[in-house]
Amino acid sequence: MSLTDVILDRQNVDIMAFHSSVLAVSRGIPRTVKFVSMAVLSIAMLVFLLVPRNSQAQDNQLAQTPPMGWNSWNHFAGKVTDADVRAAADAMVSSGMRDAGYVYVNIDDTWEGERDAQGVIHSNSKFPDMKALADYVHSKGLKLGIYSSPGDKTCALFAGSLGHEEQDAQTYADWGIDYLKYDLCGLGKLMRPMSDKDAANALMKQAYIKMHAALLKTHRPIVFSLCQYGWDRVWEWGPAVGGNLWRTTTDINDTWAQMTVIGFAQAGLAKYASPGHWNDPDMLEVGNGHMKPDEYRVHMSLWAMLAAPLLAGNDLSKMTPETESILMNKDVIAVDQDPMGKQGDRVRADGPFEIWMRPLANKETAVALFNRGESDDAMTLSFKELKLPENLMARDLWTHKDLGKLHGGYTAVVPHHGVLMLRLSEAKN
Ligand code: GLA
Repeated sequence: MSLTDVILDRQNVDIMAFHSSVLAVSRGIPRTVKFVSMAVLSIAMLVFLLVPRNSQAQDNQLAQTPPMGWNSWNHFAGKVTDADVRAAADAMVSSGMRDAGYVYVNIDDTWEGERDAQGVIHSNSKFPDMKALADYVHSKGLKLGIYSSPGDKTCALFAGSLGHEEQDAQTYADWGIDYLKYDLCGLGKLMRPMSDKDAANALMKQAYIKMHAALLKTHRPIVFSLCQYGWDRVWEWGPAVGGNLWRTTTDINDTWAQMTVIGFAQAGLAKYASPGHWNDPDMLEVGNGHMKPDEYRVHMSLWAMLAAPLLAGNDLSKMTPETESILMNKDVIAVDQDPMGKQGDRVRADGPFEIWMRPLANKETAVALFNRGESDDAMTLSFKELKLPENLMARDLWTHKDLGKLHGGYTAVVPHHGVLMLRLSEAKN
């Protein structure tokens, strides 16, 4: 029986119990009173059934701050192997990334092999022993993530989970998987020909509900990452289908144009994020080589302001000191991982100059001044405009310098395609 069947079945039981209790008390009451009471009670019952009693899916309590880790896709794509994943885990430890908070080592698409006669999925020859790989990753104090699709095929046309959801969830749990990215792809094939778009979207939501239920049934804590590129305003229903995070956009790539189109388009989504439930503007491209250091600093700063998952997407075994300093900027990571879990938003846009603000725990505030333009320019932050106190202590999160007490605001030259990021806290007299 599917989860929808369970819900519908429970509702039928509710209706039947309700009607028999109404009939039991109605004997001996005049007819018009009976009719009016029945009508009122029926409307009340309808409202009761239509308003979700528990609008959130059962919460797995995971991802209380945005997940941090690494994913194979942006650098290795379809070529990723067991050896690459082990090397990523090794580098995560030796570089200091693990100690900076990066935990998940996520294998993306193309690990999938054939199903056996019982329908059990096996990894392909690039991943000879998934359980051994999980054991290895766990032995480093890290967690292992995997990828599948609710369709028959993944985006790279490998086997998806359609019709095998419970079986696959159990296989992942048996292997020791801690994170699942569930990428719509193959299901789109079934949705596209449907003329009724609501029905197509319902099919998609049911597919996510189904895998969420299957993951819960394994009793293994597995972070559930929805990937369907933001269709049907996923941020409005992601938590209700059990998502810990949901992609809000199409795929990122290692260019300033695509990274900024995706990142700055996140304005307005702040209210949908909270501990356990995050907007995901896609994985990081820091260190993949096609953006300048200032541009990668914009990428990292913006993702932190957005309370976005920080999933590095580069080859961790070959990092320059500059890449390491960007990915392991502890001041910026602390903004991303702020325990209050409130996403930041744009508070000022003036041509290429944007100011974003994020409320932090302990009445602190992060502000980022982005220069999306083509020349270095002075930008001014006004505390009054942002409704902040007149005097605040400030720290520059990229130079790691305390700026002391600021009065009324701050003005600085921000490099083109660059950022100034500050952490503001109460000024004690
Ligand atoms: C989609 C996703 C990517 C990646 C690929 C794998 O494009 O959005 O993040 O997972 O599929 O095929």
